[in-house]
Amino acid sequence: MESHYTKRPFLLFLSFTVLLVLIRADPDPLQDFCVADLGATVVVNGFPCKPASGVTSDDFFFAGLSREGNTSNIFGSNVTNANVLSFPGLNTLGVSMNRVDVAPGGTNPPHSHPRATELIILLKGRLLVGFISTSNQFFSKVLNPGEMFVVPKGLIHFQYNVGKEKALAITTFDSQLPGVVIASTTLFASNPAIPDDVLAKAFQVDAKVVALIKSKFER
Ligand code: GLV
Ligand code: MN
Repeated sequence: MESHYTKRPFLLFLSFTVLLVLIRADPDPLQDFCVADLGATVVVNGFPCKPASGVTSDDFFFAGLSREGNTSNIFGSNVTNANVLSFPGLNTLGVSMNRVDVAPGGTNPPHSHPRATELIILLKGRLLVGFISTSNQFFSKVLNPGEMFVVPKGLIHFQYNVGKEKALAITTFDSQLPGVVIASTTLFASNPAIPDDVLAKAFQVDAKVVALIKSKFER
């Protein structure tokens, strides 16, 4: 009869496999490539492939990150996305990238990516980068060019330009579409709006303070 002990290696192997499956980001592709047909009406987990016969080198090329982003906005920052929506050749490949431009004193405000871990490499300037863990511990560093920082999947993080020059960073993700939840605009500029009473209670302030913050994000 099979004992409890002979089953154990199998159970260990099984739990390890399940763990590996759970910690992977986007699923592996089932073919070399699958350039997204963004106009397709069928909805799948990702996008259907455009016919391979119509795929050219241009589908694997994207120049959008070569241009500096316009940081003349309330945050003093700009994020240019190279994800499956702007670069359909990434479909099913499980990766994406951003260009982050931050003016002196500007911030890419606290936000999270529900579907990806983020790696940041600074190319120019000096940038304070940080994230907050689920036990509310703040981890941060000031990056100089060539230095990197990693933000674990789903955690709130930000960048802030502490230098005198414009900062330029490239961020990479283990998802073709990491998604972004910006803390301030999610809470104070959602559509429809979260009731003022909820926010007043959550932040322990007067409803007037909530109205004031909401007014900052009105377009
Ligand atoms: C930076 O945090 C980015 O999301 O590109
Ligand atoms: Mn980010």
